[in-house]
Amino acid sequence: MKICVIGSGYVGLVSAACLADFGNQVICIDKNTEKIRKLKEAKIDFFELGLTELVRKNLKAKRLSFSSLAGLDRAVKSSEIIFIAVGTPPLPNGDADLSAVLSVARKISEALKAMKGLKAKAVAIRSTVPVGTSDKVAALIGQRKVFVVSNPEFLREGHAVYDFLHPDRIVVGSDGKAAGNIMGELYRPLNARMIFIDRRSAELVKYASNAFLATRISFINEIANICESTGANIRSVVEGLGYDKRIGQAYLRAGIGFGGSCLPKDIAALIHLGAKNNCDTLVMKSIAKVNQSQREFFVAKIKRILKEVKGKKIAIWGVAFKPQTDDLRDAPALFIIEELLKAGARLRIYDPIANAKAKLLFPQAKYFNSSYEAAKGTDAVVIITEWNEFREIDFDRFKLLMRHPLIIDGRNIFDPKVLDEAGIRYYGIGVKNGYSLKPLAKSSHRRVRV
Ligand code: UDX
Ligand code: UDX
Repeated sequence: MKICVIGSGYVGLVSAACLADFGNQVICIDKNTEKIRKLKEAKIDFFELGLTELVRKNLKAKRLSFSSLAGLDRAVKSSEIIFIAVGTPPLPNGDADLSAVLSVARKISEALKAMKGLKAKAVAIRSTVPVGTSDKVAALIGQRKVFVVSNPEFLREGHAVYDFLHPDRIVVGSDGKAAGNIMGELYRPLNARMIFIDRRSAELVKYASNAFLATRISFINEIANICESTGANIRSVVEGLGYDKRIGQAYLRAGIGFGGSCLPKDIAALIHLGAKNNCDTLVMKSIAKVNQSQREFFVAKIKRILKEVKGKKIAIWGVAFKPQTDDLRDAPALFIIEELLKAGARLRIYDPIANAKAKLLFPQAKYFNSSYEAAKGTDAVVIITEWNEFREIDFDRFKLLMRHPLIIDGRNIFDPKVLDEAGIRYYGIGVKNGYSLKPLAKSSHRRVRV
């Protein structure tokens, strides 16, 4: 099929590259001409596992091409499916900013109006948009033969290529069978469960899915806080909870809350959507509140453990909102770093791939190329992102680097007993007084043989 994807960000580019890999002819468009220039050489301005290889392969096979907005008119005319995958960032009031989606829809509409002998096409909205947006776009385009479809994505950053190729379901919202047929044909190679519903419901499926995931995270963080003050252990609680088939294990990792470009923004948009339609959204408001207080709780914990933060050297391990990405959008790290800097801490930061992006935001901190270098001479290591390489640290080497071996872990990546035996003070999430059983003598780490 001939496909055009407008918006070459995380979602647009992954969708375009995967669809090209199925053998489709895909043209990817973006208003950012510098981005397009680089994409033509398979250079991507963000990290996504496996994406560069996929883009390179399909560029070479001439199934994937890139163009600035100048090529939009031609691409729209020659494509059977046109995806809209531009960003919908939050406005200050929480509502989704639809200006990019609507401006692209107008451009598509102009291109199609000028077309003679228009054949059936689908315009598929991939961006996350409030209920009713696809109807607005359909009215804007106003062509009988052009079907406007809501086709939300459920791609996790860092796993987006995998998620595209192995979807739990593909949701297609449309107002007729014809549109469903075009989309069904497109996704046929995936052999996935397809759900054909109306456009408004499809739009809400996306928000409801992300809100539900966020609910589980805020819920388990609240339970973790109860564990901390009652002496229960969150790991054991989750183990006992998650084996209930009705509950399951996913999205029950307690920590410092959710971040990223989707979960926080989509909760805010749902709250706004509710308010606009006279529906109170008590659960959503609480999810957002718990998520913010979880970040605050963690900062307060660091301050409590260190007693005085001013002048203390603190290593920050991980800045990205989760592992396998260099995305810092709404990352919990941003709030935590800002608060520690405000309190006068001297920060030594290491993230395997997000250092450069973090440096632009916090130039006053120092940046290092390894977790060990960052830990050197510090009073505490604070773990913010659970990168795998942190799990494999050499405890003996690590201890010799620090003034007092102390880890404050926002992601619960270590077994507290192992650290206790290794002589490292360790505070995780969801256990009373942290995990440290006894404070170590100042010089204890010097006795360790390396
Ligand atoms: C996507 C969705 O669009 C968003 O609705 C969803 O909630 C999260 O995922 P994402 O791909 O992460 O957004 O955004 P981003 O990486 O910022 O990419 C958007 C792209 O659209 C950018 O490359 C931007 O240059 C481009 N764009 C934006 C246009 O081409 N035209 C515009 O008018 C605006
Ligand atoms: C999410 C949705 O999962 C995806 O379907 C949607 O299309 C886009 O939004 P993403 O934002 O990439 O994907 O990340 P996700 O893996 O869902 O994690 C979101 C945040 O929740 C991260 O900050 C992560 O650290 C946090 N999280 C996740 C937890 O704190 N605990 C968990 O158990 C799971």
